[in-house]
Amino acid sequence: MAPKVLVTGTTGYIGGDAFFALYDAHPEFEYTLVVRNEDRAKLVREKYPDTEHVKLVYGGPSASYVEVLEKEAAKTDVVLHTAESADDVSSATAISNGLLKSEGHSAENPVFWVHICGTGILQWYDQVNRRYGQPPLPSETYDDIASLPRLLTLPDEALHRDVDKVVLATNHFPSSPVQTSIVAPPTIYGAGRGPVNTTSQQLPSLARFVLQKGFAPKVGTGAVEWDNVHVTDVSSLLLQLVKIAALDPARARGDAELFGGQAYFFCANETPHVWSKVAEEIAQEAVKQRFLKEVLSKKVEMGEIPDKSWGTNSKCVASRARKFLGWAPKGPALEDEITGIVEFEANRIGAKKIGESA
Ligand SMILES: NC(=O)c1ccc[n+]([C@@H]2O[C@H](COP(=O)([O-])OP(=O)(O)OC[C@H]3O[C@@H](n4cnc5c(N)ncnc54)[C@H](OP(=O)(O)O)[C@@H]3O)[C@@H](O)[C@H]2O)c1
Repeated sequence: MAPKVLVTGTTGYIGGDAFFALYDAHPEFEYTLVVRNEDRAKLVREKYPDTEHVKLVYGGPSASYVEVLEKEAAKTDVVLHTAESADDVSSATAISNGLLKSEGHSAENPVFWVHICGTGILQWYDQVNRRYGQPPLPSETYDDIASLPRLLTLPDEALHRDVDKVVLATNHFPSSPVQTSIVAPPTIYGAGRGPVNTTSQQLPSLARFVLQKGFAPKVGTGAVEWDNVHVTDVSSLLLQLVKIAALDPARARGDAELFGGQAYFFCANETPHVWSKVAEEIAQEAVKQRFLKEVLSKKVEMGEIPDKSWGTNSKCVASRARKFLGWAPKGPALEDEITGIVEFEANRIGAKKIGESA
């Protein structure tokens, strides 16, 4: 029998791209995609007309979205959760409840949950200490093998930590039939291959800010650093984990480095970015494309920016996927995407080229 795989967030950027990779590699799996309503389902169905292998479910008058999620989670072999997954406690709780009631699974034959968090969780130190616009401290870098004990006990103030706790606790129920794997990507870039949203959040938001305000923002010293990864590299890691869970459950069950309460993966390349420098590169590109007259850089306060990550560090080392799965990022570099991001966002906000009439 084909493995049953439940996927959330296929109308989103990460889930859309990951499902593209998954279905492309394994069209024979029995997929259930949970979406928010009939209109979203129609958009996904247009891209995936295969009703034999791809089932679409959503809430409605008789059951809410989370009730559907819980019911479907109880019937699956593997979950890939991406829909607002890093922050929505109610969805994570519904999945946890469903999986703990799993039909046909036990501690000896578990169901697997691949969960998307984000390295925004690592901004906590700068946030709690209001340490804005400073370079990262050595203690702010987390390696997903060497720093695992710190990672699994981050303070409750950390972004996404409330959801992480729900996911991690699922492993520790007495005789739990569930084993989880948390994947935390940093800044993701590149065009997604999903049916609805194909763009990320952080870089497009920075490009819109530069185009609309006419300058590159710089918080504090301008030395705030994050890591990054191309969306196809995130999907390749998710594909590997789902494949192992679906096709080789004995390996998944027996390898605590891949599934269970210790399985925490970062998913980053080795070329971090400094936000103020990326903002300047965007401004240079905007000048090249004639959306701005000159490259200007200005200091801004945290209260003036739409995305707090430009002012607070997030530093990770993705050792686990490399060591235990042989994963290696292959996508183009972030800098190579800037031309396209400026073009796309300028078009999205209707920016006019210099000399063009409004
Ligand atoms: N993009 C990044 O760079 C990045 C990096 C690290 C972590 N993350 C995290 O990964 C997760 C997915 O990110 P994304 O970039 O794929 O986001 P996205 O493109 O905005 O997609 C979000 C998905 O979640 C669904 N959704 C939104 N709010 C929901 C809610 N309250 N309940 C249930 N479903 C909801 C959306 O459904 P509709 O289509 O119906 O709106 C959509 O399918 C998020 O938690 C994000 O914080 C993102």
